Amino acid sequence: MSDVERVLPARHLRGSVRVPGDKSSSHRALMISALAKGQSSITGLSPGDDVAGTSVMLEHLGATRIEEEGRVLISGPDEGLHPGTMPLDCANSGTTMRLMIGIVSAIPGTHYLVGDASLSKRPMDRVATPLGLMGAIVRGHGESLTPPLTVESPAKLHALSYHVPVASAQVKSAILFAGLAADGDSSVTEDVRTRTTTEDMLQAAGVALTSHDVGKGREITLRPGRPLRHDWFVPGDPSQAAFFAVLGAIHRDATLEVLSVDASPERVGFVDVLQRMNADVRLVERGTIHALHSQSSSLVATEIHAHEIPSVDEVPVLVVAAAAASGVSAFRAMGELRHKESDRFAGSLSLAQNLGCRVWSEGDDFFIEGLESASAFADFAFASTLDHRMVMASAVAGCAGRGCTIEGASTVSSSYPHFFRDLALLQ
Ligand code: S3P
Repeated sequence: MSDVERVLPARHLRGSVRVPGDKSSSHRALMISALAKGQSSITGLSPGDDVAGTSVMLEHLGATRIEEEGRVLISGPDEGLHPGTMPLDCANSGTTMRLMIGIVSAIPGTHYLVGDASLSKRPMDRVATPLGLMGAIVRGHGESLTPPLTVESPAKLHALSYHVPVASAQVKSAILFAGLAADGDSSVTEDVRTRTTTEDMLQAAGVALTSHDVGKGREITLRPGRPLRHDWFVPGDPSQAAFFAVLGAIHRDATLEVLSVDASPERVGFVDVLQRMNADVRLVERGTIHALHSQSSSLVATEIHAHEIPSVDEVPVLVVAAAAASGVSAFRAMGELRHKESDRFAGSLSLAQNLGCRVWSEGDDFFIEGLESASAFADFAFASTLDHRMVMASAVAGCAGRGCTIEGASTVSSSYPHFFRDLALLQ
C-alpha cells in the first residue's frame, strides 16, 4: 500500500462490512493458547500486524502455530514457555508489549522488548510498578520507562493486591497474566470498568478467577494455574466498527451495516454517545453476535466523559462526529489520549481544526465547535505519525466531507490492513 492515501468524497454509501476480529481478543487468544498445554484453535483472528507480531513472539518463546482452513492452531509447550534468544519486537503495539511484560515476568531469566518509534515513546512504568512489586525488575528509559526494555524475571513471582491508578485494561491484564505464576492469589481493583477480555477469556480457559463490581469499578481475584486448551471464536472489533458507525451517521446519503461486533458494555459506549448526538446508529442482536447499523443523521453536540468509553480508543472518530454536529461538544478527562500510538489529544484537536472547526482545550478537557454538516468540512491533509486510528478517523472525515490526503496511511495495517478496500466497497 502506498504511504500517501487520497480519500475522495463518496456520493453515497451502501452495504455491509465485516471488520477484522477484535484485536484485544486476538492477542489474548494467542497468549492464553501459548500458555496452555496442548492445542487450541482460534477462528476469526485479527489479520493486523500487531496481532501477527504477538504470534511470532510467542512462537519464539516456544509455542507452535499451524494455519488450517480459516483457523489458527496454537500449541503451548508441555514444559511452558522459555526465554527467547532475541529481543521481542512489539513494533507498534502497546497491548503486545504491556501484556507480554506480564507473561515474560513469569518466565525466569532476562528478556528484552523493543518497539517502533511510536511505542518507544509510550510509558511502561504503569506496568513495571506492579510487576516490580511481584518481583520482576523492568528497566527502560527515563522516569516513565519507555522502551527498549529489559525484564529480569525471578524464579517465583509474589502474589499481589493492586489498585490500578489509571483506567487501563492493559495494566490489569499484565498483572493477571503474571498472577497465573505467582505464589498465591492476586487481586486487581480498578476505579473504572475497563474491557473484561482477559478475565472472560482466562475464565473460559478454566482459570479460577472471580470478578465483582465495586462502585463504578471492579475487583478481580485470580488463583494461579495454567490455562486449559480452548477453541476460541473472535468476534468483530467494535472499535473498528465505530469508524463505520460515524461514517454512516455523518454522510448525507448512507445506510451501512457492520456484521458481527463484540457488544460488551465496556466496548460500545460510543454507540450511546452517538445516539445522544441524535445519530441513527444501533446495535442489533443476531443470535450470539451483534450487527451495528448506521445511517445518515443530523447530529447535535454532546458532552463526552472518558469513563463512558474506557481506553478512549473511539475518541478520534467521535471528534469527527462532533465536527459534523451543530453546537459545541465537550470531551472531558481525556488525558490518557496523550499516551496512545500518538498524542491523540493534540492529534484530535488538529484533525478538527483541519476540518475547519474552532477548537480549544482546558487541562485534560477539549472542545469542538461543530460545522453542522460534514459537507462543510474542508479538504485537508493529515500526517498520521504511526497511528492507525488517526488515519481511519481522517479517512472517515474525508469520505463524508470533501476528501483528504493522508500521509503515513499504511500504518492502518497494524490493526486493519483492508480498511481502504472495505471503505471503497461501500461506495
Ligand atoms: C487494549 C487496551 C486499551 C486500548 C488498546 C487495547 C487492550 O488501552 O487502548 O487499543 O487490548 O487491553 P488501555 O490499557 O489504556 O485501556
